Amino acid sequence: MDPEEDLVPIKDDTSSVLFMATASEADSLASSLNSITVPYLASFPPQSTEQKQQSQALQKHMRLGSQLPELFDDDPAALRGYVADKFRFRALSAYASVRAATAVDLIPADPLFLCVGGGPGSDAFGCVLAREGGPPALVFDYAVGWQPVVEQVGELSGGRVGWGGVVDVTQDVAGTTLETALRSRSACVVVFHYVLCEVMRSCEAGDNRDLWMTLVLSIVAGAPTGTVVVVQDQPRDGRVVKLLRERLAGIRDVSVAMVGENRNRSGGKKKRRGAAARREEGGEWDSTTLVITIQG
Ligand SMILES: C[S@@+](CC[C@H](N)C(=O)[O-])C[C@H]1O[C@@H](n2cnc3c(N)ncnc32)[C@H](O)[C@@H]1O
Repeated sequence: MDPEEDLVPIKDDTSSVLFMATASEADSLASSLNSITVPYLASFPPQSTEQKQQSQALQKHMRLGSQLPELFDDDPAALRGYVADKFRFRALSAYASVRAATAVDLIPADPLFLCVGGGPGSDAFGCVLAREGGPPALVFDYAVGWQPVVEQVGELSGGRVGWGGVVDVTQDVAGTTLETALRSRSACVVVFHYVLCEVMRSCEAGDNRDLWMTLVLSIVAGAPTGTVVVVQDQPRDGRVVKLLRERLAGIRDVSVAMVGENRNRSGGKKKRRGAAARREEGGEWDSTTLVITIQG
C-alpha cells in the first residue's frame, strides 16, 4: 500500500501544498480554523462592493511594500477583508513551519510564541495549534489597528492568543514590550511570518535598504540563550533568507537551519499545466522556513 494513500494535501492560498496531513489532522485543523473565522466574520455585516475594494487596496499595499501603519487604523472593514481572505491560509502556513521545525527538534518544550507583524493573529493561532498546551501566543505589530481584531481572535480561541504591543520591525528591540516578553520566559520562539519581505520592499525605496533587518538582528544580539527565531516568507523570494544569513554570521553563536515541506519544483509534463499545478504536483519537497537558534 502507498504510505501516502491516506494523506491529504494542505494547501496555501496559491494552491501550493504546505504539507501532507492525515484526514483526521486535516479535519481537526479545519474545525479549529472555522471556530475563529466563522464567528469573527459573522460579527460583521456583509461587505459592500466599496468595502471589498478597500480591503483589496490594503492587501495591494502589503504586496507592494507601500503600507503605512495608519492604513490599518481607520478601516475595520479592510481588516475584516484581510481576515476573510488570508486568516485560514496564513494560520496553516505558520502551523506548517512550527510542525516542520518541531519534527527536527528545533522548537523548545512549552514555548512562548511571539509573533511580530502578526496582526490579525493568524500566525499566532497556527503556532498554538501546532504546539498544544503551551502559554498563549502574543501578537506584536506596528499597526495598533490590529489590536481589537487580535483580542477578538483571543476570545474566540479561549485565550490562546493575546495582544503583545506595538513593535516596528525597522527598530531595535530595546525598550519594547517584545523585549520584556523575551526575558519573561526561558523558551521563546519569535516568529516573523510574511512580514520581512513586505518591509524589505518598502525599505528598498528609502535611504537605508537594510532597515528591515534591525529588529531581527537586535533580537539575535541580545536575547537569552535558547531563544529561537523563525522566519517564513514568500517561498520564492529567497533574498530575505540570504541577506539575513549573511548578516547573522559573526553577531553571535547561532545555529541556522532551513526546514519545511513546500513542494515547489516542477517535473516534466507538469510544466504545461500552470504554476499552481506545478507547485502542487512537482517532484521535490523544498525548504522554506529559516530557524535561527541562539546558542551562546
Ligand atoms: C502580510 S501581513 C502578515 C500578517 C501575519 N503575520 C500573517 O502571516 O497573516 C503583514 C503584517 O505586518 C505588519 N507590518 C508591516 N510593516 C511592519 C513593520 N514595519 N513593523 C511591524 N509590523 C509591520 C502589518 O501591519 C501586517 O499585520
